[in-house]
Amino acid sequence: MMEWAKIASGSEGLELFTREGEYLVNVDGKELMSSVCHVSEDALATVSRRCTTVARPEIMIGGLGLGFTLAAYIKEFGDSAELSVVEKSPDIIHWFKTYTNRNSLGDLDDSKVHYICNDISKYNPEKKFDIIALDVDNGPEAICGEHNKTLYDRPGLARIMNQLNPQGTLLLWSSFDSESYVEDARHAGFTVTTEVVDIPNEGWTHFIFICKKN
Ligand SMILES: C[S@@+](CC[C@H](N)C(=O)[O-])C[C@H]1O[C@@H](n2cnc3c(N)ncnc32)[C@H](O)[C@@H]1O
Repeated sequence: MMEWAKIASGSEGLELFTREGEYLVNVDGKELMSSVCHVSEDALATVSRRCTTVARPEIMIGGLGLGFTLAAYIKEFGDSAELSVVEKSPDIIHWFKTYTNRNSLGDLDDSKVHYICNDISKYNPEKKFDIIALDVDNGPEAICGEHNKTLYDRPGLARIMNQLNPQGTLLLWSSFDSESYVEDARHAGFTVTTEVVDIPNEGWTHFIFICKKN
């Protein structure tokens, strides 16, 4: 198999690589995301669908990355949701719109999506959401900058709770299980369950923490 070839460098340690039609983004030399497997990003959208009965839910996705989560939400909800994606890195948004293979993402109509270039840990939207889906690190551990800790700690969870409509749901994608995160989310007042997603042929397991506002 060919080596990954670097095609762009961004700020804050971000680098974009490609190999045989696949893409990889590293942060500070560590893998942040790749296009090789997106089973659990797809699961985030199908689980979200189960979590809301609102006819046209307001959905905020944290982290654009290579766009698989966004594509999964568009596939799952079609026109029947208001979709906002908050991505802090202008480089990521530029790479997504310039380099990556958007054809592999299906029918991704930009006019259906609000792209917001901002840090979701500091972003104060005017509206409230029925679903907030976070996939900005590899789980409740801030690898994309210290500021992301405030997305997972108790004050941060209380802040997110405030951004949700009644019966809204916070979903957190994670590559690892975390009892302490579940405990903190319960402490903030969420009812928490964990969805375990087995990744076929890879032997990996990913996790989606489903945090319901009562
Ligand atoms: C693991 S990737 C997301 C992968 C994505 N699920 C996909 O389908 O490709 C994390 C993304 O979140 C972004 N990010 C990290 N911290 C953020 C923050 N505080 N606010 C907004 N975006 C953030 C990163 O720049 C990166 O694009």
